[in-house]
Amino acid sequence: MTSIDRTRLHELAAREQKSFAALHPKSHAAYNSAEHLFGRVPMTWMNKNSGAFPIYLDRAQGNRVWDIDGHEYIDFALGDTGAMAGHSHPAVVEAVTRRISEQGGLTTMLPTEDAEWVGADLTRRFTMDRWSFALTATDANRWAIRLVRAITGKPKIVFHSYCYHGSVDESLVVVGPDGESMSRPGNVGAPVAVTETSRAAEYNDLPGLERALAHGDVAAVLIEPALTNIGIVLPEPGYLEGVRALTRQYDALLIIDETHTFSAGPGGMTRAYNIEPDIVIIGKAIGGGIPTGAYGLSSEFAAEALARTDLDLVDMGGVGGTLAGNPLSVAAMRATLEHVFTDEAFEHMIDVATYFTDGVNALFDRYELPWAINQLGARAEYRFARPYPRNGTLAAEAADAELEDFLHVYLVNRGIMLTPFHNMALMAPMTSRSDVDAHHEHFEAAIRELRGV
Ligand SMILES: Cc1ncc(COP(=O)(O)O)c(C=O)c1O
Repeated sequence: MTSIDRTRLHELAAREQKSFAALHPKSHAAYNSAEHLFGRVPMTWMNKNSGAFPIYLDRAQGNRVWDIDGHEYIDFALGDTGAMAGHSHPAVVEAVTRRISEQGGLTTMLPTEDAEWVGADLTRRFTMDRWSFALTATDANRWAIRLVRAITGKPKIVFHSYCYHGSVDESLVVVGPDGESMSRPGNVGAPVAVTETSRAAEYNDLPGLERALAHGDVAAVLIEPALTNIGIVLPEPGYLEGVRALTRQYDALLIIDETHTFSAGPGGMTRAYNIEPDIVIIGKAIGGGIPTGAYGLSSEFAAEALARTDLDLVDMGGVGGTLAGNPLSVAAMRATLEHVFTDEAFEHMIDVATYFTDGVNALFDRYELPWAINQLGARAEYRFARPYPRNGTLAAEAADAELEDFLHVYLVNRGIMLTPFHNMALMAPMTSRSDVDAHHEHFEAAIRELRGV
């Protein structure tokens, strides 16, 4: 296996940064003139990019994006899953346009009939009986956490170390070097010490999870069934079954966040792995680009919550939001679920992702790189470690910001966009094998330059 020559990496990265600046003068100027935005961007995360400034969007269609400097990109980032349906899918555009112009009523605090259709379809996919909508997966997680605390009367939530579930206070917890839970580095303005509300356990570590549960004070374990925000860390055989058995043994609920793992198939990992959760969280992709989120409850849990007359579920008790479940986002969800994320679409997306993964693996072998790639249905992600890390802490240790930035900027300069957050490539229903070939051609060229061959 070959290690990377850092001097060569720095030289190549400097060359690519120079070329990025030369290719994107309009984006550069727009960024420099953004004097009224916090961090010069509409949302601070948009400063996470491999060049010195973000590329400004002109337009996007399907799995293609165009920037204001006139460059076209094959989009494997897909809005970090928010655009997994592809940009402006015709079925979504049609439904959303109808609601906006013909029907009207974007926000009314009145239900539309689409909502029951969406609830029924989410039940068919993810097995939960009763659904409620939010505008982000973050909020769906927040509201589910409030409900499980209220119903169980227990204070703590257990998470995987290096999980990501949105900007949920409780979830910013990791396993520290001494094996104890601690605040995630960089946690902004925690309301209380996170260890008061939460514990962390490593992914793929059932004894660690049991230690977290054994205190008897855990309302729920809230997890992604595979980690997708620190590479893709997959379950070892028996892990997910073990999680379910332990949560039952210690009388804790199991919340499965499918926001990203929906890529595994039409019913996410819940269906693909037969998980039997108590609550399912979903968001991002199911709105086809329109903000949305949802949580699904078992009928027993929902009935128990509704029977609690001391809980204010219809006004300001802390669960819900004014624009949540609005007619526009519900119409978008219906169109996306009904017309875009069909079984056939997933078959195609997974086939293309497998083609992507096989090709990347072949390059790692050919150039003897100590890197590995994991696939979860329609998404694939490589990490600078081999074998692939088996938990969040090891995956975090395998990060290499310099290398990652170089590869991203190299690809962007040649019309290929990976998610800015990691080395993730996601396939939309319209992503083709020839799009993947284009990625592999440039990815191989980047590797050859790195290796000096
Ligand atoms: C698993 C998971 N849950 C929740 C979220 C939060 O989604 P949003 O930013 O739409 O609130 C994310 C975002 O990346 C996520 O990956």
